[in-house]
Amino acid sequence: MKDKVIGRLIKQEEKRQRQGLELIPSENYVSRDVLDAMGSVFTNKYSEGFPGRRYYGGQVNTDQVEQLAIDRAKALFAADHANVQPHSGAPANEAVYHAWLEPGDTIMGMELSHGGHLTHGRPGTISAKLFNFVRYGIKDVETGEIDYEAMREMAIKTKPKIILAGFSSYPRELDYDRFAAIAKEVDAVLMADMAHIAGLIAGKVLSNPFDHGFHIMTTTTHKTLRGPRGAMILTKGKVSNPLKEVEKTVENLPTLIDRTVFPGLQGGPHMHTIAAKAVAFYEAAQPEFHQYCLQILANAKSLSEALMKRGFKLVTNGTDNHMIVCDVNASFGFDGSIAERVLDRIGLTLNKNVIPDDPLPPYRPSGIRLGTPAVTTRGLKTEHMEQIAEWMSQALKSRNDEPTLDRLAKVIKDFASGFPLPSDR
Ligand SMILES: Cc1ncc(COP(=O)(O)O)c(C=O)c1O
Repeated sequence: MKDKVIGRLIKQEEKRQRQGLELIPSENYVSRDVLDAMGSVFTNKYSEGFPGRRYYGGQVNTDQVEQLAIDRAKALFAADHANVQPHSGAPANEAVYHAWLEPGDTIMGMELSHGGHLTHGRPGTISAKLFNFVRYGIKDVETGEIDYEAMREMAIKTKPKIILAGFSSYPRELDYDRFAAIAKEVDAVLMADMAHIAGLIAGKVLSNPFDHGFHIMTTTTHKTLRGPRGAMILTKGKVSNPLKEVEKTVENLPTLIDRTVFPGLQGGPHMHTIAAKAVAFYEAAQPEFHQYCLQILANAKSLSEALMKRGFKLVTNGTDNHMIVCDVNASFGFDGSIAERVLDRIGLTLNKNVIPDDPLPPYRPSGIRLGTPAVTTRGLKTEHMEQIAEWMSQALKSRNDEPTLDRLAKVIKDFASGFPLPSDR
């Protein structure tokens, strides 16, 4: 690369990723094929519109790429329609809100400190300025069970037009049938933001909200799904006449969503990313991906048990998915930002995180969040989870002991370097 500075930074980042253990549950390592598609000549192409209906010429290949991505996404998630153009998870959610709602309308989402994402109405976001968010939460922090009765009462009182199931830091499965029953009672559209668990749904190890009557599913493509950074919106039902005005009905959701993504929120789709999404969807449809997902769950269970054995207090006392939220303040007497820094120092990357109804502020919250998708891609198995928990425990207990931290950093670097990146040829 002629630009030596960026060339050096790319090499350094690759080394960092190779020599450390990536435990941030929203990250993963993509295959060489996904990387190649991302770095392909499709980045040169403008393709405003949708396959067969573009505003620019020269679409002979892009149309095929986008149609393949759409068809593969539909097959993976049993959807009738897929819009694969959203640049990221936040604009995908924004597109759904704008497709279905008018300013001032109500959305019911998960309490943020209980696991909901920023795009589910964090004060200060554009959607929170335009729409009225009301919240459901967990009944019991020890089990993580959602308070469905309180949720139902609030839905009857506030009449949300969208009920949103989805999370960034909730380690348990949701009861989609309970969501569906409440939505039916108040005539709300059911939306699932599956950003974190889409790979596990595609890999058929967690249940698919569409099997429980959900109308819309949004997801990022770069977490458990192991694709490029990006997102998509899936719906039941087909696009009606794309050229005619359509009413806001559930049947018209695919059309309303397509129009809100383009031209509503975005211009030209990123065709190199869409090509990489298509490759990732192909990979997720292979039998090995199912095995990968089973291993993610097995690793998360082993890691959570190994942590609890060492005195780590876990929110909900375990996990049903790929993610673990730990109250480090209760376990060690210091906040999550300190734990994040100490563990980063030894090559274990994870993130500080709020715990339910956290008494501490978000920039130094009580907890940390970690997960197993990335280390499972590297090839780590359940027996390695015990080892990771032991390193975490030793580091946090010796957080001011530089020689111990140096020793752990070296051990982890040697260990991690033995597991190739999937992009190695
Ligand atoms: C549940 C959920 N929705 C949406 C997003 C936003 O995705 P992005 O960061 O790609 O905008 C995230 C990202 O962490 C998420 O966890």
